[in-house]
Amino acid sequence: MTHHASDIPDSFLAKWQTTTNVLAGIFDVPAGLIMRVLPGQIEVLVSSHSEGNPYEADEKAQLNTGLYCETVMATRALLHVPHALEDTHWEHNPDVALNMVSYLGVPLLWPDKEVFGTICVLDSKKRNYQDKYVELLWEIKKSIERDFVVIEQQRQLLENNAELQAALQRLTALQDELLRSEKLAALGAVVAGISHELNTPIGNSLLAASTLQCHAADFAVDMKQGLTRSRMLDFVSTVEQGAGILMRSLDQAAKLVGSFKQVVDDQSAADRRRFDLGEMVRSVLSELNHTIQGSGHRVHCAIAPGILLDSYPQQLAQVMTHLVSNAVQHAFLPGVAGTVRIAAQPDSEGQVVLTVRDDGLGIPQANLGRVFDPFFTTRLGRGGSGLGLHIVYKLVTAALHGSVEASSEPGQGACFTVVLPLSAPAPLQKPEVRAVRNGNFV
Ligand SMILES: Nc1ncnc2c1ncn2[C@@H]1O[C@H](COP(=O)(O)OP(=O)(O)OP(=O)(O)O)[C@@H](O)[C@H]1O
Ligand SMILES: [Mg+2]
Repeated sequence: MTHHASDIPDSFLAKWQTTTNVLAGIFDVPAGLIMRVLPGQIEVLVSSHSEGNPYEADEKAQLNTGLYCETVMATRALLHVPHALEDTHWEHNPDVALNMVSYLGVPLLWPDKEVFGTICVLDSKKRNYQDKYVELLWEIKKSIERDFVVIEQQRQLLENNAELQAALQRLTALQDELLRSEKLAALGAVVAGISHELNTPIGNSLLAASTLQCHAADFAVDMKQGLTRSRMLDFVSTVEQGAGILMRSLDQAAKLVGSFKQVVDDQSAADRRRFDLGEMVRSVLSELNHTIQGSGHRVHCAIAPGILLDSYPQQLAQVMTHLVSNAVQHAFLPGVAGTVRIAAQPDSEGQVVLTVRDDGLGIPQANLGRVFDPFFTTRLGRGGSGLGLHIVYKLVTAALHGSVEASSEPGQGACFTVVLPLSAPAPLQKPEVRAVRNGNFV
C-alpha cells in the first residue's frame, strides 16, 4: 500500500465533496469523481451528488482493465476522450458498460510526486470541452494537491508528537531507574554505615563482658585462698565499671535498632487523646534538657497555652524530638551558640501550623528535596542513620494526617513546618502502610 493511501481526514473529504458537486454542475455532467489508487485497485474516493451519476463513493474497480483513469495515472497527463464508441482504442473500456462514453481527467499527485489518483468528469454523450474548462480542471487539481500538502504536514506533526511522547516515556522510565539505583546505592552506604555504627557498641560490649569473665574467674581462684577486704572492693569496682561500659554500649546499640524499628512499626490509634500543644512540646523539651544543655544552644518555645489538639501526643512528641535534636545536632558549627525557636499558630481551617526554626547553617538547596528520604544523612558513619526525618515524615503524614516541609534560605538557618489538623481523623486501617509506600523505600 502506498503511504498516502491511508485515511484522509473527514474535513477534507467533505470539502472535496463540495468541489466535485460544483465540478459536475459547471461541466454539466452526471459524474465528477476523485479517484484514489490502491494496490491492484482503484477506488471512487469522492463522487459528485449529481443526477444520473452511476458511481458511488467507496466503489472499487480492478486495475489493468483499460480504465480511462489508468491511462491518466500511467502517463501523468490529461486525457480527453470525446466519445469512446467513436474511438477503437476506447470502445471496450469498462466505463462504457455504464454508458460513460466521454471522459476528461487529470492526475492527482501526492507531495512526494507519487500518483494519488485522478480527478475527472464523465458523461453519457459526446463532449468537447473549451480550453477554459480544461484550465479550470487543472486549477481544481492544483487546489486538491495543496490540500495533500496540508494533510501530509498534519500527519508529520502527529508522528513527531508520537515520537516525542515515546521519548518522554523513555525518559520517565530512565528517571525511575536512576531513582531506584540511587536509593539502592543509598541503602548500600547505609548498611555499611549501620554495620559500622553497631560494630562499635557490640565490640565494646564483647570486650567488657570477656574482661568481666576473666575478672570473675580470677576472683573465684582468689576466693578459695581467702579474700581481703581491699580485694573485694577492687572486684566490686571492676564489676561496676564493666557493667557501666556494657550498659552504655548496649544502650547505644538498642537506640540504633530502635530507630530502625520506628520506621516499620505500626502506630496504634490507642493513644489518641485531647492535649494542650504547648504543654506537650514543653514536656518534650524538658526530656531533651540534658542534650540541649550539653550543646550550649538555646531552645525557645513560644507556643501560647490553650491550643488544644485531639490527636496522638506520643507520635507528635517523637516528631518534635527528632526536629529539635536535628537542629541541635546539625544546624550549628562547633563553638557557636545557636537558637532554636518553636512556634504554633492555629489557622481558620481547623489546622495548626507548627514551626521549628533555627538560625544555623541551613540546608543546601540540593539537599532540601532529600532530607525526608530514608537514609539520607550528612553524618554517615558519625552517628547519623538518616532515619530521623523519614520517621518524622511518616508520623506526620500517616499517623497525624498532616504535612511537613523543610525550607531554608541561604544564611537564614533551616525551618521545618508541620501542618496538623486540630482533630486528627481516626485511622481507617493501617495508614502507615500508605506512608511506607510514599516513602518509596522501606
Ligand atoms: N536543622 C537542620 N539544619 C541543618 N541540617 C539539617 C537540619 N535538620 C536536618 N538536617 C539535615 O538532614 C539530614 C537528615 O536528617 P535525619 O534526621 O533524617 O538524619 P540524621 O539526623 O542525619 O540521622 P538520625 O536522625 O537518623 O540520627 C541530616 O543529616 C542533616 O544533613
Ligand atoms: Mg536526625
